[in-house]
Amino acid sequence: MTVKFKILLATSLLSLIATSALAGGDSAAGEEKAVVCQSCHGPSGNQSITPDIPVLAGQYEDYLEHALKAYRSGDRQQAVMSTFAGQLSDQDIADIAAYFAEQSGDLKDLSIN
Ligand code: HEC
Repeated sequence: MTVKFKILLATSLLSLIATSALAGGDSAAGEEKAVVCQSCHGPSGNQSITPDIPVLAGQYEDYLEHALKAYRSGDRQQAVMSTFAGQLSDQDIADIAAYFAEQSGDLKDLSIN
């Protein structure tokens, strides 16, 4: 392996690591930011106070991010969630999504039995 190639390899590995660290939210920060959400979505996002409130625990992180950004932009409209998501920054959304995705959830795959 040439020195030039080794340097190239090292820098591309480093940039990969940096990118993945930036992409993920901080679930510890997300836990604090999600306190306001628990009154409806339940502690850890697993129970909801009424059947129309979805379970968030164990949901895919990118789905949660996508849903919150859609409420924030108005692509997905629901009065309550538009209000809550409207107050969140991109970083808040990433952190909160990381937190709920990490909780063990009661979500199940649909199966036809
Ligand atoms: C006052 C009750 C209430 C609060 C507080 C609340 N939500 Fe919701 N949330 C709802 C309801 C109701 C829905 C279903 C809305 C719909 O039909 O689109 C929902 C839907 C969602 C969804 C979409 C889930 C899915 O399966 O598509 C996400 C994500 C979400 N809420 C995250 C949050 C977060 C994060 C917070 C805190 C910042 C929060 N919610 C606070 C009531 C609430």
